Amino acid sequence: MKPVWWEDNYLCFIDQRRLPLNLVIEKTRDYRVVAEAIKELAIRGAPAIGIASAYALTLALLQNEDLDEAVKILRSTRPTAVNLFWAIDRMMSLPVKDFEAFLEEARNIEREDEEMNLDIAILGASLIPYNSVILTHCNAGGLATSGYGTAVGVIRKAWEEGKVIEVLVDETRPLLQGARLTAWELQEAVIPYRIITDNSAGFMMELGRVSAVVVGADRIASNGDVANKIGTCSLAMLSNRFDIPFIVAAPTSSFDWSIKSGKDIPIEERKEEEVLSFGGARIAPLGAKAVNFAFDVTPAEFITAIVCEVGILKPPFFTELSIL
Ligand code: MRU
Repeated sequence: MKPVWWEDNYLCFIDQRRLPLNLVIEKTRDYRVVAEAIKELAIRGAPAIGIASAYALTLALLQNEDLDEAVKILRSTRPTAVNLFWAIDRMMSLPVKDFEAFLEEARNIEREDEEMNLDIAILGASLIPYNSVILTHCNAGGLATSGYGTAVGVIRKAWEEGKVIEVLVDETRPLLQGARLTAWELQEAVIPYRIITDNSAGFMMELGRVSAVVVGADRIASNGDVANKIGTCSLAMLSNRFDIPFIVAAPTSSFDWSIKSGKDIPIEERKEEEVLSFGGARIAPLGAKAVNFAFDVTPAEFITAIVCEVGILKPPFFTELSIL
């Protein structure tokens, strides 16, 4: 289930825009192709774009490209997920800028993400009670990471422990990462799930049909505010209202210590067309306008726990995060 991998000096990746109907694998030696794939969401999910950008810089060295130009292009692909910048900075801080050193570091980033996912899964599953129905949003699964997942990793582990009855998957408009990708992953893992429209979550909670909400993160500020796929904030507020645990699962590579609060997180705004169409078919009248923020910020006060590889953080996050 790896979304990106290195093979014979090529970077291979699953084109996630084509899932679930077609499993299309691309391979390239051109970092610009990787940058475009990140921009257009063929490769997506915070940790996965970090890993891909590390390998993209490795490709740039392999092809004797201008490294600073490659950094500039990769940094401009998506603004919100801090993992992208974290991975690029980590690669660029290597004392030796040669192909072997870069390949080794990119592999380290990928391997460490695998390890972090497993630790997060074990810790996160300990928060899930037996007979749970878990609601998740977007895709924080294997496709968004090094292959196992953060939120979906927690769900996988809790399922293995016999704690999960069913997963409710928000379809996640406009690009349907839930209905297309999370559903595909859960199906592969033979974990029972049903897709709900994004606007069903509140009523499902009111009916008592949600035991916990588990989501990933694109960037976590020093005070515990979390940027994640648009719609996450309303889920957190609803969970709070209905007294349902709202759990964020993310590796420390998604923490941004340089910013005090979520107000400082740059939020990506994408093309209007993504909202004005559905599955490639136009649904709005010609001339219609749309607003398309790809992420929102959930204030820390609505979060029950942030699970990272080093522990389970509970409010007040400011104190807990400061000792990490
Ligand atoms: O726009 P996307 O599909 O890249 O958004 C992805 C998310 O919002 C995920 O929840 C987040 O990156 C965490 S992935 C482990």
